[in-house]
Amino acid sequence: MDFELQDVTMKFQDKCALKDVTLKGKEGEIIAFIGPSGSGKTTLLRIINMLDSPTKGIVKIQGQNPGKLSNGERYSLRTDMAMVFQNPSLFQRTVEANVAYALKIRNTQPETIDEKVAWALKLVGLENLKHQFAPTLSAGEAQRVSFARAIVFEPKLLLLDEFTANLDPANVKLLEEAVIRYHQETNATIACATHNLFQAKRLAHEVVFILDGEIVEKAKKEDFFESPQNQLTRSFLSGELIC
Ligand SMILES: Nc1ncnc2c1ncn2[C@@H]1O[C@H](COP(=O)(O)OP(=O)(O)OP(=O)(O)O)[C@@H](O)[C@H]1O
Ligand SMILES: [Mg+2]
Repeated sequence: MDFELQDVTMKFQDKCALKDVTLKGKEGEIIAFIGPSGSGKTTLLRIINMLDSPTKGIVKIQGQNPGKLSNGERYSLRTDMAMVFQNPSLFQRTVEANVAYALKIRNTQPETIDEKVAWALKLVGLENLKHQFAPTLSAGEAQRVSFARAIVFEPKLLLLDEFTANLDPANVKLLEEAVIRYHQETNATIACATHNLFQAKRLAHEVVFILDGEIVEKAKKEDFFESPQNQLTRSFLSGELIC
């Protein structure tokens, strides 16, 4: 599933969170959004996820402008997308019930639900915790369940917002491996906002550097990290404060 933003501006009262952002995410691409805190990464993901509409500009998801769709059409487009947030909010039920939820609301056959839940939990290495009550999970396990819940119905567009922030290296590794395997198996389009430059290096095909609501540089991962074109990108990558 591809997405496109044309001259997108997002204002919150007098705060301009995004300014004239033009960007394409191609089918099957993993794209990382990096930039300092407050630069507009979450705002961008929320617009792509159709949770918010921009103040100005055009958004196209799979060639369709959400602003011009009926509620039914928008809902149908959204059923192919999932977003994983930094802090998982799981239902007060078992791991299995949490992961099965997205399939149940899509009227999936019970046998298929069992199969897909097993597949999603295997992807995050939690098959043996399926009967555990979700509120008793560790933070890392909870985030892995949250990821399994997001991908169980095989979304064609997966949005990850700081999905491994505050986790230990072992859980970060497990989640990143799950992203890579999910991508290999489905060729989904994945957009990932991260503060972790190494994560962008490990996961992404394309990297977008956002500063103060504007795209400073977008390039293939190798070019972005090995020969950044913009002085601001070079400063950011070398850890200099540029806000
Ligand atoms: N609903 C809102 N109301 C008012 N201001 C908002 C709202 N959402 C975002 N902003 C502002 O827009 C700017 C961009 O916020 P955003 O959350 O997109 O940044 P971010 O790059 O995701 O930051 P972080 O790396 O800390 O997650 C910030 O200055 C923020 O305060
Ligand atoms: Mg954010």
